[in-house]
Amino acid sequence: MLLALESSCDETSVAVVHDGRVLANLVSSQIKLHAEYGGVVPELATREHLRNLLPVAQATLKGANVQVRELAAIAATIGPGLPQALMIGARTAQAMAFALRKPFFGIHHHEAHLYSPWIAGQPPVADFASFQPNVSLIVSGGHTMLVFVEAELKHHLLGSTVDDAAGECFDKSAKLMGLPYPGGPELDALAEQGDPRAFDFPRPMIRDLHDDFSFSGLKTSVRYFLRDQPFILEDPDRVRDLCASVRSSIVDVLVTKTVRAAKRLGAQCVTASGGVTCNRALRKQLAEACTQNNLTLRLTDKSLCTDNAAMVGILAERKLQHGVVPNSLDEEVKPNWALVQN
Ligand code: KG4
Ligand code: ZN
Repeated sequence: MLLALESSCDETSVAVVHDGRVLANLVSSQIKLHAEYGGVVPELATREHLRNLLPVAQATLKGANVQVRELAAIAATIGPGLPQALMIGARTAQAMAFALRKPFFGIHHHEAHLYSPWIAGQPPVADFASFQPNVSLIVSGGHTMLVFVEAELKHHLLGSTVDDAAGECFDKSAKLMGLPYPGGPELDALAEQGDPRAFDFPRPMIRDLHDDFSFSGLKTSVRYFLRDQPFILEDPDRVRDLCASVRSSIVDVLVTKTVRAAKRLGAQCVTASGGVTCNRALRKQLAEACTQNNLTLRLTDKSLCTDNAAMVGILAERKLQHGVVPNSLDEEVKPNWALVQN
């Protein structure tokens, strides 16, 4: 049984996992707190983590019906993320590990996302090995990357965004349209009733054979489009078409590059995780493209796409089971920790 904490950005989350299963996973989201600023305010996020972490941990342990003395290890995200926010989770976990004389695992946030597709559904995480190698798309508000997972706990970063993340492009485009924060889910919902062919937006780097992404140009073209045709925003039908057209550009790039990388590398499986994996068009188009290309697709359950401690706990448990050496109790947080070859 492991206890895991996640506090890298604006979700305070605690989970208890056991044998590849999640016994409890509570997430206290700060979305409403940051909404009036249109983005995450680090100082507010830190205070909120400080206020909520222990009550969320107590409620999680109670929900799982687990006593602290039953825990085999404590894990926490130690990077990348907001420095002070990371520190709240990491230092709390290290103090608990010290008091309970248990090992501490400091987890890489993106490596944890890599494991989230395996938490819910079948087969379970223990069968991860039968789906290797796979190509994994991690797509959130802060990151967009493709990772080649050669074997369990062994992966290489193939490429990532050179500027904005796909989620940021969704959020900023939505903001330009006057949609509430965070705009990604709002834009997605409106796009469902729009025509994706109504307006033609660029699909950056879609033809480039490398695995990097770029979304800032697309965001800028939405800005210029609305500067030149502000009246579009007065017509709800045209707004829906605009949402569908922007969504289609982003999703086309993500799907094309993911499937191309999988084919090039001979992977038989594709996985996707991170907040943007909630996007309906991304889920649908990835499924269609994988079927056409004979690839197995493992999508993260919608409830686990955004940040959560369950994925941190599941990865820490795999590390424990594989005999990975735990981290020291004074291990520093790593706000800019890159996903390196492992
Ligand atoms: O993984 P996550 O919770 O946090 C980060 O690490 O960033 O992802 C949040 C991002 C936000 O940009 C949000 O707008 C986006 O995921 N998102 C979506 C959808 N649901 C969440 N973007 C597009 N369509 C959605 N349905
Ligand atoms: Zn994340």
